[in-house]
Amino acid sequence: FRIAVLVSGRGSNLQALIDQVHGREGIEIVAVASSRPAVPALARAERAGIETAVFAADDYPTRRDRDRALGDWLERRAVDLIVLAGFMEILSGAFVERFRWRIVNVHPALLPSFPGTRAIEQALAYGVKVTGVTVHFVDEGVDTGPIILQEAVEVPYSRDVSELERRIHAVEHRLLPEAVRLIAAGAVRRDERDPRVVHVER
Ligand code: GRF
Repeated sequence: FRIAVLVSGRGSNLQALIDQVHGREGIEIVAVASSRPAVPALARAERAGIETAVFAADDYPTRRDRDRALGDWLERRAVDLIVLAGFMEILSGAFVERFRWRIVNVHPALLPSFPGTRAIEQALAYGVKVTGVTVHFVDEGVDTGPIILQEAVEVPYSRDVSELERRIHAVEHRLLPEAVRLIAAGAVRRDERDPRVVHVER
């Protein structure tokens, strides 16, 4: 089962995948693509001996062109699953359509609450007592695709942002590898009637 991971920065979720799923149970991370050059995530991939590439939007006339080049690159590597792990850009509709049900994302909130790039800060500002982590399939919207796994995280009494981030990332680093393992094992399937619903045999 061949997976590609798309990143933009630190790559701690990529590292969790390298440590927990890469080279196990027939799962191989065959490619890591970044939307930004010279980020720590690329160094993590190189250290693990995984092929890397940079697909920066600025290097292409339009985002659609970038996404087409990225899609061609992924297709040549025959990937079964594309994992967005801290990939900070919206993929074009054509890319989503091309890889429908083969793209997953990890989000640091309990969707549909707090979609977008500032989920942790927004949850704190809203004053929720429980937030969490969601792994979902990617559709054309921003963090709107069918949900695969979720886990709750309590907001610390201190409301300290770094403490909440620490708790959320610790859950992400478990939940994303688990979701990938379940998909690779064929334990994740779509509901026949309701396109929003995903069944997971954990
Ligand atoms: C994670 O919190 C992820 O949920 C969000 O971006 C962050 C990426 O962190 N989409 P990292 O690059 O995996 O360390």
